[in-house]
Parts: sequence; structure tokens; C-alpha cells
Amino acid sequence: MPSLLGICGSLRNGSFNRQLMHLAAGLHGGAFSEGDLRLPLYDGDLEAAEGIPAAVQTLADQIKAADGVLICSPEYNQALPGVLKNALDWVSRTEGAPWLNKPVAVMSAAAGRAGGARAQYSLRLCLTPFRPVIINGPEVLVAAAHAEFGKDGSLANEHYLKAISETMDLLKAAA
Ligand SMILES: Cc1cc2nc3c(=O)[nH]c(=O)nc-3n(C[C@H](O)[C@H](O)[C@H](O)COP(=O)(O)O)c2cc1C
Repeated sequence: MPSLLGICGSLRNGSFNRQLMHLAAGLHGGAFSEGDLRLPLYDGDLEAAEGIPAAVQTLADQIKAADGVLICSPEYNQALPGVLKNALDWVSRTEGAPWLNKPVAVMSAAAGRAGGARAQYSLRLCLTPFRPVIINGPEVLVAAAHAEFGKDGSLANEHYLKAISETMDLLKAAA
């Protein structure tokens, strides 16, 4: 069974995107680990003085080792969150091109009616330089996330569950 690394673009404990990530990981069924985006802000002076921070190298190693990566991210002001872009920038400074040819699925949950569509497009654009294999569909865009997730992190909406399941099958096949 292929292994899966989950990356959540939200740092907050009760994140709907983290709930979405765990739900999708459960459907995937393989060994699951989660990346941590609590990294320092990218700073060329810090890099020059101290090299790649240990937390960045850990994330890069996790990406490299995983058979597939699932990124679940909210939309912040019509784009991907800064913590996620910061992580992409840091990882791009590591050796070994961890994203190259890596199967990657992208999902989003957001308060708005578009379910984070603009965050997903901006994220896909930001991933392009690293040449992963991005699963292009079906789109998983959980709109009005606060109304869709139960208190236990469950999702009842059959439309979303079908799209999540199909996406995870495609990610597994790509791995
Ligand atoms: C700084 C900020 C900007 C936001 N901008 C958007 C937005 O552009 N579109 C949207 O649908 N929701 C937006 N939201 C609301 C988020 O979708 C909502 O808070 C969501 O639950 C965050 O994801 P999380 O539950 O995984 O933390 C924004 C929230 C924050 C904190």
C-alpha cells in the first residue's frame, strides 16, 4: 500500500482542512504521516548563517520518502496561505528535488461558496516549478466548510465524499 504524506495549509487546531486531510487519509488506507508547516520565515541571511533549518529538512525528507502527497489548504484572501508558500520556498532550497515526479493531490475547504478554488489554482501554480505529478481532478472544493463538517470531523455530503474517494484512488494509482 503506498504511503501518504498530508500537508495542511492551516495551522489552527480545529482546521476543517486538517479534518478533510484525515478523512481522505482514512480512505487512502496506506501509512500516513503529517508534515509540519511551523517553519521560520524564509530568510536568505538565516540560510547563509545556519543552513537549512532542521524542520525544513524534515519536511523535505518526508516529501521525498512519501509515495504520494495530499495538500489540504484553506483560501486566504483569494490565494494560498502564506505558511504554505513559505514552506514551498524553503523546501525549494533543499537538495534532491523532493517534489520531482511526486504524485500530489490538492483539496480545499473554505468558508466561501467557491470552496477555496482560487487557493487551489494559486497552489497548483506555485507547485509547477518543482515538476510534481499533480492530480487534475475531480476537484474537491468543500464550500461553507463550517456547515459541512460534523463535530467529529465527519462529512455527510455524498458529492464531496465521492470526489475525495476518486481523488485518493487516482493518487494511489499515480504512486
Ligand atoms: C486571513 C483569512 C483570509 C480568508 N480569506 C478567505 C477567502 O478568500 N475565501 C474564503 O472562502 N474564505 C476565506 N477565509 C475563511 C476561511 O475559508 C475559513 O476561516 C476556513 O475555515 C479556514 O480554513 P481552516 O478551517 O482549515 O483553518 C479567510 C480566513 C482568513 C483567516
